[in-house]
This record gives sequence, C-alpha cells and structure tokens, in this order.
Amino acid sequence: MNHPNPPPLPGSPKEIDPVEKAMLALSYGVHVIGSRAADGTLNAMLADWVMQVSFKPRLVAVAIENDARTLRFIRETKVFSVNLLHQKDGVAIARQVVMPAEGSKIRGRTGEATGVVDKLAGLDYGIHDNGCAILDDALGWFTCEAEQFLPTGDHTVVVGRVTDGAVVRTGEMLIERELGWEYAG
Ligand SMILES: Cc1cc2nc3c(=O)[nH]c(=O)nc-3n(C[C@H](O)[C@H](O)[C@H](O)COP(=O)(O)O)c2cc1C
Repeated sequence: MNHPNPPPLPGSPKEIDPVEKAMLALSYGVHVIGSRAADGTLNAMLADWVMQVSFKPRLVAVAIENDARTLRFIRETKVFSVNLLHQKDGVAIARQVVMPAEGSKIRGRTGEATGVVDKLAGLDYGIHDNGCAILDDALGWFTCEAEQFLPTGDHTVVVGRVTDGAVVRTGEMLIERELGWEYAG
C-alpha cells in the first residue's frame, strides 16, 4: 500500500514504528485517580486513560495496570475518584503522584527503592463521602462506583458509575502533551 511516510534513510538513528506514532498522536487529559483500601489506606495514581462510555447511566472507563495498588484498592472497596488536573499548576501534582506507591513495582522498573510511598503526603486534599481523595487544586473531580472489571491485556478496564462531581476552578484541564510525558505506544 502506498502511504505518505517515506521509509527511513539508511543509517538514520531510529526507525519510528508508524503504528506507535499513531498511538502517540492520541490526545489525553491528565487525571489523578483516588482510591481507598478496605482498611482505609488511601492512594493516588496518575492516569491518562480515562473516558466517558455511557450517558444513561453515566459511566466512565479507566484502564489501570494489572499490578497497580490502585486496581487492588478499587477491587476491595469498589469506589474511586477522578481528579482533573489544572493546566496552570497540575504538572507539580503529576510529578508527586507519578511513581507507583509500592516499592516492589518501582523495583520492577528501576531496580531500586523499597517500601510504600504515601503519594498524597504534601498535597492538599479533602475526603469525599465515598472515602477517596479530592485534590484541592484540581480543576474538577467526580466520584465513581466500580461496576465492571474488564481484563484487557496488561491493564484492566474499570467501568464506574458516576455518583457525584463538580468543576471547582476556572480554566482548562492539563493535557498530556503539555505535561511532556507519554503513556501510549
Ligand atoms: C503520563 C502518564 C500517564 C499514565 N496513565 C496511566 C493510566 O492511564 N493507567 C495506568 O494504569 N497507569 C498510568 N500511568 C502509570 C501509573 O501512574 C503508575 O503505574 C502508577 O505508579 C501506579 O500507581 P499505583 O501502583 O500506586 O496504583 C501513567 C503514567 C504517566 C507518566
């Protein structure tokens, strides 16, 4: 098939997989998923892969890594929050919550660190009636009750019924391109 992308020149540094390039061209908002374990322990996780999937009932889907602490917590209590980071100051929050909470997951990636990190320490937040964190500096937020857990490769899609929500600041949501990190491929 003819296509507009010429083949890479011989000796060019890196051939970019055209399919990966297409996946990376997708646009995402930047969110923080708040979750709570059965014993009340809280967690917060950076997530791009969030979308509305039904009007009636109002449902959203979030794809979560199979070994994420967040997924385990949501399986336990069936509740979570979605915080929409603000374009103005969301990057600092994203930095604070980007690493996995558990040392074993970090070790799998970088070969270092142990223990559990409280990613909410140092962030200003309140606790919603559903028990999950709502960040003071979010542009807006909503809360969900998990209704389905769909295995999808190395992630699980959690479908949640939206139970509450609000926009609490003026301005725009932070998008992944502005954050400068990629989560696609
Ligand atoms: C820009 C960006 C977007 C991300 N989006 C997601 C996502 O949508 N789903 C996911 O499971 N992990 C995502 N991650 C990775 C998680 O934030 C990361 O694995 C997290 O540490 C898991 O947290 P937990 O084990 O504390 O629950 C993203 C990472 C980055 C840098």
